[in-house]
Amino acid sequence: MKKKFVSVTLALALGLSLAACGNSGSSNAPADNTDKKEDTNEPAADDGADAAEDAGSEGSSAANKDKPLVWFNRQPSNSSTGELDTAALNFNANTYYVGFDANQGAELQGTMVKEYIEAHIDEIDRNGDGTIGYVLAIGDIGHNDSIARTRGVRKALGTGVDKDGSINSDPAGTNTDGTASMVQDGEIEVGGKKYVVRELASQEMKNSAGATWDAATAGNAIGTWSSSFGEQIDVVVSNNDGMGMSMFNAWSKENEVPTFGYDANSDAVAAIAEGYGGTISQHADVQAYLTLRVLRNALDGVDIDTGIGTADEAGNVLTDDVYVYREEERSYYALNVAVTSDNYQDFTDSTKIYEPVSAQLDEVSHAVKKVWLNIYNASDNFLSSTYQPLLQNYDDILNLEVEYIGGDGQTESNVTNRLGNPSQYDAFAINMVKTDNAASYTSLLSQ
Ligand code: BGC
Repeated sequence: MKKKFVSVTLALALGLSLAACGNSGSSNAPADNTDKKEDTNEPAADDGADAAEDAGSEGSSAANKDKPLVWFNRQPSNSSTGELDTAALNFNANTYYVGFDANQGAELQGTMVKEYIEAHIDEIDRNGDGTIGYVLAIGDIGHNDSIARTRGVRKALGTGVDKDGSINSDPAGTNTDGTASMVQDGEIEVGGKKYVVRELASQEMKNSAGATWDAATAGNAIGTWSSSFGEQIDVVVSNNDGMGMSMFNAWSKENEVPTFGYDANSDAVAAIAEGYGGTISQHADVQAYLTLRVLRNALDGVDIDTGIGTADEAGNVLTDDVYVYREEERSYYALNVAVTSDNYQDFTDSTKIYEPVSAQLDEVSHAVKKVWLNIYNASDNFLSSTYQPLLQNYDDILNLEVEYIGGDGQTESNVTNRLGNPSQYDAFAINMVKTDNAASYTSLLSQ
């Protein structure tokens, strides 16, 4: 347990230093929460209360456009530029986003891979050619989390090249001889000896029907890559565990090639004992709680910080080493922790709720409310095996009756078609298929 706190603190320090150099306006929760209470622009605390009072078992009679809304996991943003969709994030006074700190996590993932290479330098270069070759599975080229992770790995390994002031995150295709323009050869020096680091190949794992972060596509890709590159591949890196585990099971486990993912899904954490290199926990337990907690607070008409930075009457509270709130982005971000062979025992069950926010709310002051919630793709490994089970644990604790809708990961209409009668619900939690598509939902709520 102690170890976990040490890594969390390190992660926080990293996150803050990253925030300090470039991410202006970031602050940790306590300072921000203090500001927030004094901020006269804050949403009137009773907006939600009105909605709550009016809510019968058939859903609130408040206008749908005024009901609490939380975006989660896919932040409303321009999929080409990453620019936040501030209209969607400020749809009404009770609109928030819940995700995790993508830059802090990306830096952790890159550092984890680099440190692994350094610590295993004597055996990592399988064909002994002095070049550490890696392949990279990219989740979704238009998803800011995926972009951040590709950049984080390239930055740590020295393979990134600049594009418009940031590291190029485009897939390199194949780069056998090191001449691709999206990446460059990096260099690592260990014990006085220099090694070249090369991104041998990378591609977006999108299937023919259009689903991104596609694990099966990654499993096929590693087959192609291993037959083209063979022993040139020394390391496998993935933007998430779903794709990482697919490549590990298809090829790297048998060939003892360390494979790195992201999400700390239970199967990936267990695989660390069998040679999976490591993963990053994006603190899904904290995110799932925040996703439902902001709705609960808005429906109760209480300060949004209740049970978050300020303990509620049941004792639920989060400390600022596990999340950050950025008021100007209306966004809560959980902080990430690296999970490696050193600490994986602490992370074996990814669906376990976070102990500091596990106390049941009473039904008298927190009457049951109805929430409509969608998962963009019912087959997404992270959302289906980690995030949704966590939501299902928290919905009981928070007295929320949640209707879970699973999309096909391809078309927004597959999801929006199932939001036919928003008046039946008191609040909404939305996980878009594409981060540009917030208006497909807000237009339904505005009708
Ligand atoms: C997760 C991925 C997941 C994606 C879906 C990311 O935060 O790491 O595993 O596929 O969210 O939006």
